[in-house]
Amino acid sequence: MTFTNTHSSFSGRRLLITGGAGFIGSNFVHHWMQLYPQDRIVVLDALTYAGNHSSLVSLEAQPNFQFVQGDICDRPLIEHLLQEEMIDTVAHFAAESHVDRSILGPETFVQTNVVGTFTLLEAVRQCWSQGQPSAKFSDHYRFLHVSTDEVFGSLGPEDPAFCETTPYAPNSPYSASKAGSDHLVRAYYHTYGLPTLITNCSNNYGPYHFPEKLIPLMCINILLGKPLPIYGDGQNIRDWLYVKDHCRALDLVIRKGVPGETYTVGGNNEVKNLDLIHALCDLMDEMVPDLPVYPSRNLITFVKDRPGHDRRYAIDATKLKTELGWSPTVNVQEGLRQTIEWYLENQQWWKPLLSEEYQTYYQQVYDNSSYTALS
Ligand code: NAD
Ligand code: DAU
Repeated sequence: MTFTNTHSSFSGRRLLITGGAGFIGSNFVHHWMQLYPQDRIVVLDALTYAGNHSSLVSLEAQPNFQFVQGDICDRPLIEHLLQEEMIDTVAHFAAESHVDRSILGPETFVQTNVVGTFTLLEAVRQCWSQGQPSAKFSDHYRFLHVSTDEVFGSLGPEDPAFCETTPYAPNSPYSASKAGSDHLVRAYYHTYGLPTLITNCSNNYGPYHFPEKLIPLMCINILLGKPLPIYGDGQNIRDWLYVKDHCRALDLVIRKGVPGETYTVGGNNEVKNLDLIHALCDLMDEMVPDLPVYPSRNLITFVKDRPGHDRRYAIDATKLKTELGWSPTVNVQEGLRQTIEWYLENQQWWKPLLSEEYQTYYQQVYDNSSYTALS
C-alpha cells in the first residue's frame, strides 16, 4: 500500500483518527478539519458494516486529509502510518459499538475493542519511544481513548451519577470489552508513561448515526411506517448528548487534558426511553407532512427486553466543566429537531445502509425467539 507523504507541508498537529468513518469519529473529523486547517488528519478505518466512507467524502479533496482503509489489529500498517505520517496525536474511536450485536456475537468485540486497542497501544509505544523501553515521551504526544459510561454498569433511581471515581461494573459483552480496553490504556500510562487520556461518555445522537441505534432507528421507522420496538417497559434511562457537544469535549481533552486522567462526559439530559420516543414522534408529526402512519405514536410496540439491559445511566461532568471549561450546548428537544432535519435531508446517506445484512440482523434482534434462546 502506498500513501502520499505530505508531512513537510503541515505545521500543526498530526492526528491519526481510528474509526473516523463511524458515527462519532466522522463528526469529530469534520469538527477538527473545520477548526484546525493547519493540522494533518489521517483516518484509519476498517469500514465494517458501521463504517461509511461517504460520511467523509466531502473532505477527500483536501490536501491535509488522508483516508486509509485498514484494521487496528494490523500492527505493521499502524507502525507504517505512525512513522510515515509522523503522528503525534492518536484519537481512538474504532470499536464494535452496538450492545445488541455484542449479545448476538461477542467475539468481534473482544477482537477489535480489546486486541485492537492493545495492538494500537503497542505500536504507539514502540514508535513514540523509538524502541527504548524506559523512554520519556515527548511533551506534545497524546493518545485519546474514546470510551463509554457503560463500563460503570447500571444505576438505581436514587444513585449518584457516574463520575471519574465510579468503580467499573460492565454488564454486556460490549461494555466488558470497552472496560478491558480502558484498563489497558490506563496501564500504558502507569507502566510506560504513555501520555494517554480516557473519556467515558453517555449516549450520543446526531448526524451520521448508524440506523441500528435507538434514535436513527425510530426516526427511519417512522418515515417508513414500521413498528417502533421499545425494549421492556420503556422506563430505562439514558443521558443523551448531541454528538457535536461530545466532539467539543474531546477537542478540549486532547488540547488541554492532563495525561493519565479520565473525564466523564454527559449531556445532563436524563430521559426515559419511552418519553424520548414520544418526543421524537411528536416532532416528526410536526415536521414531516404525509407520514405513512399518523400520529406516529401509534407505531410504538413493546417488545421483549434486551438481556441484561442496564436500567439507568447518568453522568456527572463536573471535572470536565471546572478543569477544562466544557458544557453541553444543545438540549434534547433542539438536538432531536436537528437530527430529524439531517435524516430528512440525507436520505441518500442512510437508505443504502438498510441492506440485506442489516435486514438479517434486524430479524435476529426483533424476532423474539433469538433473544429468548440467549436469555
Ligand atoms: P460506530 O460503530 O458508529 O463506528 C465505529 C467505527 O470503527 C466504524 O467506522 C468501523 O468501521 C470502525 N471499526 C470497527 N472495527 C474496526 C477495526 N478493527 N479497525 C478499524 N476500524 C474499525 O461507533 P460510534 O458510535 O461512532 O462510537 C465510537 C467510539 O465511541 C467507540 O469506541 C464507542 O465505544 C465510543 N462511544 C460511543 C457512544 C455512542 O453513543 N455512540 C458513546 C460513548 C462512547
Ligand atoms: O452509553 C453510551 C453507549 O450508548 C455507547 O457506549 C454505545 O456504543 C451506544 O450504542 C449506546 O448504547 P445503548 O445500548 O444505550 O444505545 P442504543 O441506541 O442501542 O439503546 C438506547 C436505549 O434504547 C437502550 O435503553 C435500549 C433501548 N432500545 C434500543 C433499541 C435499538 C430500545 O428500546 N429499542 C431498540 O430498538
